[in-house]
Amino acid sequence: MKKILPTDDGKLILADTPCPELRDDEIEIKVMAIGVNYADVKIRFGYFSDKTRKNPEMGCEVSGVVMRKGRDAHRFAVGEKVFAVWHWGGGYAEFMVVPEYAAFRLPVYLSFEQGAAFPVIAQTAYHLVHTVAHVERGETVLIHAAAGGVGTMLVQLCAMQGATVIALSSSERKLERVKKLGATFTLNYSEPIVERVLSLTKGEGVQAIFDGNGGAFFPHNFEMLGLRGRVVLFGNTAGEIPHLNPYQLVYSSHQLIGFSMRAITANPELYIATYRWILDRLESGELKIEIGHCLRLEDAEEAHRLLTSRESYGKIVLRP
Ligand SMILES: NC(=O)c1ccc[n+]([C@@H]2O[C@H](COP(=O)([O-])OP(=O)(O)OC[C@H]3O[C@@H](n4cnc5c(N)ncnc54)[C@H](OP(=O)(O)O)[C@@H]3O)[C@@H](O)[C@H]2O)c1
Repeated sequence: MKKILPTDDGKLILADTPCPELRDDEIEIKVMAIGVNYADVKIRFGYFSDKTRKNPEMGCEVSGVVMRKGRDAHRFAVGEKVFAVWHWGGGYAEFMVVPEYAAFRLPVYLSFEQGAAFPVIAQTAYHLVHTVAHVERGETVLIHAAAGGVGTMLVQLCAMQGATVIALSSSERKLERVKKLGATFTLNYSEPIVERVLSLTKGEGVQAIFDGNGGAFFPHNFEMLGLRGRVVLFGNTAGEIPHLNPYQLVYSSHQLIGFSMRAITANPELYIATYRWILDRLESGELKIEIGHCLRLEDAEEAHRLLTSRESYGKIVLRP
C-alpha cells in the first residue's frame, strides 16, 4: 500500500509499504480522508513532547470503510463507514489498522472529509471550554490562532456558551471568516494586542485565554487577564516559552492551566459522551467543521507547509 513516510532529511515521500498486520481486537480501515494536525509536524521532525508515546507516526485521525476485522472485533460490519482517532498514528496511508475501540460509526450527515476533520479539534476545544476553563455566559475570552483547526472550534463553542469572544490571527482574510463563526471582536497580531484587549474590556481584562501558540508572546497573556482569570496552555506552535515567575500569578489570583487530550482519552466514558454531544451539534448545524484545504495524500508536504507558514485556515484534509 502507499504511505507517506518522512525521510532522514525531513522530506515527506509517498512510499510502497506492506499492509499493516491485523491483531484480534483490531479493524483495518480503507482510508478515505485524513485530518492533518499540528502534532503531525512535531512528529515528523521528532520534537513531539508526549514522551509516553514511543515512535508515534503521523496521522492520528481518519475516516474510511472497514475492510477487515480481527477475531475479537464485533462492533462493525465489513463495509461500514467509520471515523477513528488513534494516537499512535499511521493514518497517512491507504490503509490503517486501529483497535476497534478507537473507531466510531460515521453518521450519514457527515462526508468522509468532515469525518476526518472534526474528531481531534472538536474534542480538544470542547474540553478546553467546558472541562478546563469552565467558560460561562457573560465572560470575555481571548482565543489565539482562532482561525486554526482547534481555534475555529473554540470560537464556536465559546460563542455557544454566551461568551464575548476576542479572536486573534495573523491574517485579515482569516479574521473575516472567524467573525462569521461568532467572534465578537477580531484582532490582528500586527496590532498592539495588550492595549487593544484592555481597551475592549474597559481596562478589566478577559476572564479566559486559550493559547496553543506559546512562544515569546506568551507572558503578555497575563497583562490582559482579569481578576481570577485563567490562561490555558495547550500547545506551542510559536516555539519555546520564556521563563515565568509563578509569583506573578498571586496578586490577581491568576491561574495557568496546562491541558493535553491524554487527560480525556484516559477516561473512555467521558470521551465517548463528548463525541455524542459534538455529533448532536454537528447534526443540528449548531457546530460547523471549517475545512479550509483538501489535498491529495501525496501532497502531505504541502499540507505541512500551509500549516507552518500560517497560510492555512481551519482544518486541512488529505485524500488518498
Ligand atoms: N493539548 C492537546 O491535547 C492538543 C490537541 C490538539 C491540538 N493541540 C495544539 O493546538 C495547537 C493548534 O493545533 P491545530 O492542529 O489546530 O493547528 P492550527 O491552529 O491550525 O495551526 C496553525 C496556526 O497556528 C498559528 N501560529 C501561531 N504562531 C505560529 C508559528 N510561529 N508558526 C506557525 N503557526 C503559528 C497560525 O495562526 P494565525 O496565522 O491565524 O495566527 C497558524 O495558522 C497546536 O499547538 C497543537 O499542538 C493540542
